[in-house]
Amino acid sequence: MSFSKNLLGWYDVNKRELPWRETKDPYVIWISEIILQQTRVDQGLPYFYKFINAFPSIVDLANAKNEDVLKVWQGLGYYSRARNLHFTAKHIIEKYNGVFPSNYKEILSLKGVGIYTASAISSFAFNLPYPVVDGNVVRVLSRVFGVEIPFESSAGKKQFYSLANKLIDKRKHSKYNQAIMDFGATCCTPKLPKCDNCPFILSCNAYITNNINNLPVKKKKIKQTTRYLHYFIINDKDRFVLSKINNGIWNGMYQFPFIEFEKKINQCELFETLNWKSFFLGYKYEVLSSSDEYNHKLSHQRINSVFWFVNIDNFSNNKFKYFSKHEIRKLPIPRLIDKFMNDYKLI
Ligand code: ADE
Repeated sequence: MSFSKNLLGWYDVNKRELPWRETKDPYVIWISEIILQQTRVDQGLPYFYKFINAFPSIVDLANAKNEDVLKVWQGLGYYSRARNLHFTAKHIIEKYNGVFPSNYKEILSLKGVGIYTASAISSFAFNLPYPVVDGNVVRVLSRVFGVEIPFESSAGKKQFYSLANKLIDKRKHSKYNQAIMDFGATCCTPKLPKCDNCPFILSCNAYITNNINNLPVKKKKIKQTTRYLHYFIINDKDRFVLSKINNGIWNGMYQFPFIEFEKKINQCELFETLNWKSFFLGYKYEVLSSSDEYNHKLSHQRINSVFWFVNIDNFSNNKFKYFSKHEIRKLPIPRLIDKFMNDYKLI
């Protein structure tokens, strides 16, 4: 039996019911695929419903305020995905008169859409013959066919795409792509795969050669950096000082003023640093208390942060603004800051 036939047979029995599979609307499929780019299905589902509820059509998304889009995304991370969605919705209104493009090349040209996502939208919405190759698919192919090259290398990409193009079902492109992703997500899992239930058990290279735990081969990870941030909680009664972030991963969101270090510093050293002194230069201030450490893990960095409650007279600075609690609740805030504010019941 062919790989595809075997896979589709498995899918008929084991398919997951997911809302984006009930539609051919490219807008809805696009939103789901962007949410699922770095997010598991169970984490992404509530955001999918929230997003489609807030912005049911491409026109609604294009007309939304950037801050409102980020607010709906709050907590999901990788916020450039939300910024790109908003940008692209406006672009589709302008360039394509609001009609989602229906060919692979044009879909691939959209901001925030890479080869994987273009293949997913092309096949799911338009049944075009483009195989999806994501982490799940790489795991399945590397194990079943014994591919020992890391997908992250350029030779690896070539090899996986060449194999995926040969294997995709000749007619049911959409169903095949959904099936291979589900198979990877639920049966050929990274740890403890369910080989006893696997339709490829008799031919799987990794199973036969006892290599399940060695495949797929991963490229060496880049080293993570740790940033040490000290945030200042400055308030005037119920209003708190925040600034809008205008670069990096949290671009467009809001956070407290902070100073940053490359290494951990104890309290005595901290008060003597140039960063600390220049932040308070010209102000009368008093340190009231500090929070515990908050550690936050991102894809390429760890953030180690402490929040300092300070009393400061007439703080004003054109980079910062006072916001009421009511206003803060509506602003997009990084999860780290939001967690701190909830823990300390600031909002
Ligand atoms: N992960 C990414 N896209 C997916 C989809 N359409 N269904 C299930 N998991 C996915």
